[in-house]
Amino acid sequence: MILVRTVNLTKYFTSGFIRKKVVKAVDNVNIYISEGEVLGVVGESGAGKTTLCKLLLGLIKPTSGSIIFENIDITRANRKLLDSIRRKMAYIPQHPETALDPRWKLYDSLAEPLRIHKLVRGKVEEKERVLELADLVGLKEEHLSRYPYEVSGGELQRAIIAHALSLKPKFIICDEPTSMLDPSTQALILNLLKKLQEEHSLSLLFVTHDPDIATIMSHRVAVMYSGMIIETARTNDILEEPLHPYTQQFVSTVFKRTRLESDDLLSQPPIEGSSYACPFYAKCPRRMPICKTKTPPLIRVADEHYVTCHLYNESNPHTGRI
Ligand SMILES: Nc1ncnc2c1ncn2[C@@H]1O[C@H](COP(=O)(O)OP(=O)(O)OP(=O)(O)O)[C@@H](O)[C@H]1O
Ligand SMILES: [Mg+2]
Repeated sequence: MILVRTVNLTKYFTSGFIRKKVVKAVDNVNIYISEGEVLGVVGESGAGKTTLCKLLLGLIKPTSGSIIFENIDITRANRKLLDSIRRKMAYIPQHPETALDPRWKLYDSLAEPLRIHKLVRGKVEEKERVLELADLVGLKEEHLSRYPYEVSGGELQRAIIAHALSLKPKFIICDEPTSMLDPSTQALILNLLKKLQEEHSLSLLFVTHDPDIATIMSHRVAVMYSGMIIETARTNDILEEPLHPYTQQFVSTVFKRTRLESDDLLSQPPIEGSSYACPFYAKCPRRMPICKTKTPPLIRVADEHYVTCHLYNESNPHTGRI
């Protein structure tokens, strides 16, 4: 069953004092995540991944479009309803140092949500529950009496995960949760998240710019480019049969695959310019005149495989394959 989905979700930012510039941070995004499913979101820096996370959490308001959580449109829900829905969501932000209050010991950071929502009666029950949370993520009792700056990066990330789990959420939004960690700690934290996701049947939106990590963690992957989701498919299909020229480059550079015909990929070198109907136009090796003027539609090419590219069309979804 689908837990959360977005409908034409859009967020534009305006920046600049004299000459106003509009940044299409999230542009007409339609994604869904089922119960117990992990959707990996990959894309380069500035693609709009964090903005998408913040929209889903209700931290920022969309310019247009909606977010449906358990069949409720949360972009139009009243305060009370929104608060009860937000309890079912948790966030592991991109910058771990901002996740917990630096003035509080880890114990208090883990206890606070339980106190606010009156989920424990008295200090004994509170301690029991906090220790349970710490145990779930592999933290020892001694860590709990320390401040965030008194623990290692891996321990801090474990505390952040425990904090995220404190209200027993259904949906966790993980924004590059391990990008600040060394590779071995990264592997431990990813294993922990995967184990928790499976044991508690959690739904995860897992942002990363590392396709290797996306592959390990996700059931499906959404590729984001310049605010748009340009392709989504099951993880294996994205790796084995990437359709969008950007996904093909992304997959081939990262996995150093020679399977894709490199001559074809290099057939048209990048050009200058940025404001074309398809955001990848200037860099696309397979661009066509139509891509300059007409925004590509979302095409369903196979079960759970969607691509936004003029190389493909509804009547013959396989025309663009290499
Ligand atoms: N509050 C804001 N005001 C103006 N522009 C913003 C704001 N927040 C984000 N942006 C712009 O929106 C675009 C998407 O930013 P976002 O942080 O979502 O990217 P990202 O994919 O998370 O990148 P990274 O991988 O570097 O974390 C960028 O061009 C960014 O500069
Ligand atoms: Mg980001």
